[in-house]
Amino acid sequence: MTNSFSFPDGFLWGAATSAYQVEGSPLADGAGPSIWHRFTRTPWLVPSGDNGDVACDHYRLYEEDVRLMRELGLHAYRFSVAWGRVLPEGTGRVNEKGLDFYRRLVDALLENGIQPLVTLYHWDLPAALDDRGGWLNRDVAGWFAEYARVMFRALDDRVRTWATLNEPWVVTDGGYLHGALAPGHRNLFEAPIASHHLLLAHAAAVEAYRAEGRHKIGLVVNLEPKYPASDSEEDLAATRRADAYMNRQYLDPVFHGRYPDEMAEVFGEAWPDFPSADLARIRQPIDFLGVNYYTRNVTKFDPTALPVQASAVKQKRHAYTETAWEVYPEGLTDTLVWVKENYGDLPLYITENGAAFYDPPTAHGELSDPLRVDYLRTHLQAAREAIERGVDLRGYFAWSLLDNLEWSLGFSKRFGIVHVDSETLKRTPKASARFYAEVIRTNGGNLG
Ligand code: BGC
Repeated sequence: MTNSFSFPDGFLWGAATSAYQVEGSPLADGAGPSIWHRFTRTPWLVPSGDNGDVACDHYRLYEEDVRLMRELGLHAYRFSVAWGRVLPEGTGRVNEKGLDFYRRLVDALLENGIQPLVTLYHWDLPAALDDRGGWLNRDVAGWFAEYARVMFRALDDRVRTWATLNEPWVVTDGGYLHGALAPGHRNLFEAPIASHHLLLAHAAAVEAYRAEGRHKIGLVVNLEPKYPASDSEEDLAATRRADAYMNRQYLDPVFHGRYPDEMAEVFGEAWPDFPSADLARIRQPIDFLGVNYYTRNVTKFDPTALPVQASAVKQKRHAYTETAWEVYPEGLTDTLVWVKENYGDLPLYITENGAAFYDPPTAHGELSDPLRVDYLRTHLQAAREAIERGVDLRGYFAWSLLDNLEWSLGFSKRFGIVHVDSETLKRTPKASARFYAEVIRTNGGNLG
């Protein structure tokens, strides 16, 4: 790859986390429990028994974490707000003490010259709203807009970039179809409804922002490009279904006001006829799209793999991470270019990118994580390539700043560029953090 090209001036270099994965103290200062608080307390759902009671203790150690971000030279920090800290019942009464935490965090970031990028929903629905049907209740759009308004009024004077939802596909696929994530349902008929309500909630929050906000709001999706395992008609059709299910199910409604045709094939009789007025509402201009990219998928027809009838083919001699995801940086370039070609030339951010690897212990204090360094380097080169090919990429957020709770996989999978000792909570930057700090310092000049 060429090294004559550097990242644009003002390119935003950041790192990301989410509330339940790092904060700890989930019920502190009057917060209401979330579906993740409940999920981790239900026997068998999180095999390790790990939960977010302490996590990285970011709720109490945030000042130390902001100092660390400054030391690494980060320009921006992407974090999420725990809805239940702010509205313990999900709607109605505002808990000022919960809101204060985010006011203090934002102030600390700004005092250190770090821009906050705030995600309103990163999977931790207030349990009180789950009791009312959660994402299956159409009223959730109004509940979400009410919560979003509280946040805009409290922080829009200081926060210039907002994201409505993080990865609606994962919320639905994990939470309502396979049940591996909260609230743990396994129901083919619920999944399309939950997705549709997520999109309506996104739209309602964007409307609220247009009425009261002064800066920028967007959506964050996880995109995983699908490549056919062969040219057979069966594999090509399976690849189209897999792509529609995971990627276009969310982007087509937001940018084109319709669902992909393949959705009816994927869900069969479970696919409802959604009102066209809803789709007109969902199709609203957003100011940016956040893309979370981890891996690709080589797809082959598999009649037993429901609902898409497609499964992944393992690539011989390719590197895989600890979560069994193929390391495939070219897929990041392809994905960013694909977004531009299919959805228009809007500003993009890579809002998550990173890898879980086993970090070997070291005798010398510095944690050496060469595989993660290599992952970051090659994916940043791939991001640069996308910019060279005309993509309006504005920033990059490493996932994650800290080793944290990897949802139902507990603390066993470490994505952090900063190691967190599970006993002492001591933070130690890994070699990848040092490498990334140098990327930031040179604006990508050290990538080769
Ligand atoms: C999520 C993160 C998660 C990461 C690694 C993304 O899907 O937004 O919360 O930790 O991937 O699995």
